[in-house]
Amino acid sequence: MEQNPNEESQKDQNPTEQSQVEQGPTEQSQNRQDQAEQISRKHVVAGNWKMFKTRDEAQATVREVVGLVGNIQNVDIVVCPPFTALGAVEEILTGSVVQLGAQNVHWQDEGAFTGEVSVSMLADYGCSHVIIGHSERRHYFQESDEVIQGKLEKVFSTELTPILCIGESLEAREADRVQEVIPSQLERALRELTDPQTSRIIIAYEPVWAIGTGRTATPELAEKVHFLIRSWLSDHSSVGVADQVRILYGGSVTPENAGQLIEQKNIDGFLVGGASLDAQSFAKIVQQSA
Ligand code: 13P
Repeated sequence: MEQNPNEESQKDQNPTEQSQVEQGPTEQSQNRQDQAEQISRKHVVAGNWKMFKTRDEAQATVREVVGLVGNIQNVDIVVCPPFTALGAVEEILTGSVVQLGAQNVHWQDEGAFTGEVSVSMLADYGCSHVIIGHSERRHYFQESDEVIQGKLEKVFSTELTPILCIGESLEAREADRVQEVIPSQLERALRELTDPQTSRIIIAYEPVWAIGTGRTATPELAEKVHFLIRSWLSDHSSVGVADQVRILYGGSVTPENAGQLIEQKNIDGFLVGGASLDAQSFAKIVQQSA
């Protein structure tokens, strides 16, 4: 199996960004953060169901979700079932505020790509969002940064909103290399995008060591990385673009820890795995983000 791309190192690392994580915000970046406080970004809570739920199970879950959070207008609520349940879920979601997302997509319009699904197929099911570059795809299916970049470009030729996942491995975290890995992943995924495209993206920071482990990043630790991501966007696009991009946290999010995490300035919502499979706990996370 190939090395997890989350573990690759960044050759052209920016010392300014490195010091921001280690030493806290510089004066310039603090000003940027102060400005960002004035900006209100609509929160997003997305449930990534991964390879769980048949059509009947999926319909029962989303019926309950709509019943519990269908009146919440100030959060973008998205459920991402497996491909096989998209149609069943679409039937229930039609006319509700809850939006439909997919977990993956191919970078070509169509062709001989056995087992793959295209952007127009997702649009056909009423999808508004698609997850790109989840660490499970990077790790188990060897998705490279080039593939992820190609998928992003294809998605931007449509109305779909991409949820780009990035995050460091446990090895990178322990080796104090977060400040190299995160900018590297951003650079490789976003370098071909225009500013209007970048401002439309949703980024999910999902530290690999926190996914499905019950080991959540502390609010302070998550905020440091979200701040690093926004600073990178500001430096590589503009302050205006950086202020618009929603940055979600993912990794063992539960109703118990969501409240403290969402209070952080640069955390704009969640990409929820396990806790999104249960309508009640997903709804509680949405309610805490409202
Ligand atoms: P868990 O919430 O189960 O840790 O999964 C996070 C995730 O991978 C969401 O994409």
